[in-house]
Amino acid sequence: MEFPAEPFRIKVVERVKRTTREEREQKIIEAGYNAFALRAEDIFIDLLTDSGTSAMSDNQWAGIMHGDESYAGGRNYFHFVEVVQRIFGYTHVIPTHQGRVAENLLFSTLLEPGMAVPNNIHFDTTRANVQANGGLALDCAGEVAYQPDVEHPFKGNMDLERLERTIRDVGVDKIPLVILTITNNSGGGQPVSLENVRQTRELLNKYGIPLFFDACRFAENCWFIKQREPGQQHRSVLEIAQELFSYGDGCTMSAKKDALVNIGGFLCMNDGELAQRIKNKLILIEGFPTYGGLAGRDLEAIARGLEEVLEEDYLAYRTAQVKGLADDLTEHGIPILRPAGGHAVYLNARAFLPHIPPEEFPGQALVVELYREGGVRAVEIGSLMFGDNGGKPEMELVRLAIPRRVYTSAHMSYVAHVIGRIWERRESLRGLRIAWEPPMLRHFSARLEPLS
Ligand code: F0G
Repeated sequence: MEFPAEPFRIKVVERVKRTTREEREQKIIEAGYNAFALRAEDIFIDLLTDSGTSAMSDNQWAGIMHGDESYAGGRNYFHFVEVVQRIFGYTHVIPTHQGRVAENLLFSTLLEPGMAVPNNIHFDTTRANVQANGGLALDCAGEVAYQPDVEHPFKGNMDLERLERTIRDVGVDKIPLVILTITNNSGGGQPVSLENVRQTRELLNKYGIPLFFDACRFAENCWFIKQREPGQQHRSVLEIAQELFSYGDGCTMSAKKDALVNIGGFLCMNDGELAQRIKNKLILIEGFPTYGGLAGRDLEAIARGLEEVLEEDYLAYRTAQVKGLADDLTEHGIPILRPAGGHAVYLNARAFLPHIPPEEFPGQALVVELYREGGVRAVEIGSLMFGDNGGKPEMELVRLAIPRRVYTSAHMSYVAHVIGRIWERRESLRGLRIAWEPPMLRHFSARLEPLS
């Protein structure tokens, strides 16, 4: 197995607790069969998300001590802006405390009821923020994005014909922007090619529509471009990122992913008038524009994290660790979405548990079993997450998101082993039904019960 070893050594460790199966049986009942309601200290390997769960480096922790906590004009802000502009290239950089605030500021400023936002595939908070502002969130990824068994280097690509059809059907004046999510989280952490970004830009030029990136995992996306796209091998990931962002008018960013920090985000754009309107709102809900809901030290950690995430030995290790888990599962015949994503492996719950229909939440049944069997926490991306209000998701997935620089290869082997044990007795698993659900984003807080 190809596996670039960790390009770091471990200076600080955090104890994780082992629990017994009996304890876990009890905890998951108390949690209403919803892994979001578990206490983190009752989990052995937490693959719920790669968001805000990275291990920071000694360099980032040192940056924390350089925090300038002045209310306005702190030095970390200027360092942060300088690094963001070097990579992303946009004129205006607005810090926020996480990605969804950047989304909310953007959509609440640009959207009017009846408008629509096309995206390759919206992430759940993006979709919810579009809808909460009266907009229609439309997905325009290609068919291949929904075919878990088909190998394709750029499954995150926008389907340009679908996008153009959408623009014509909805009407140009009703589309204030188009988004490309890199990598495409809801479609398996799959990358978008540079060629596809270029073509999307050309198409949007024809209609005069701005292009924004949902840039959370931009470094992983650009690493895949370097690995997979013809003619890109000789370039640095930074150069690829700079070209990619040059085709856009701005971006939203959750720094909790590829800025390797535990909290933070930002919003960038070239349009000065739009930036001013958003900064006015920022002061109302987040804070002064030189800290945007963060401490000065957080901005320093983001600036340093953004430089580290572009180191190519880091990216080689990072993507190989995720791929290693995917290959291990594939070797045992366990159905996953192929190829491995940049930040996660997605189990194909429909193929894993064909006897459990979507309305009985096969993905959630698997999430519950992962916890019971081995204290592993994952998240369902299927009918529980997207099936409310008449939604019918095309795939039933369970995401095993790998936090950055946190778990070792032995931890990954353990996870594969736990899944292997469930695979052997998969026919014994049963579905679930909802006992209580909130009106939106139900997967976070719904309570479920097992079907006998
Ligand atoms: N966009 C994408 C593609 C995301 O994956 C996320 C968060 C956000 C926006 C929102 O950012 O959490 O900082 O407000 N994804 C996390 C996840 C929560 O688990 O995939 P945020």
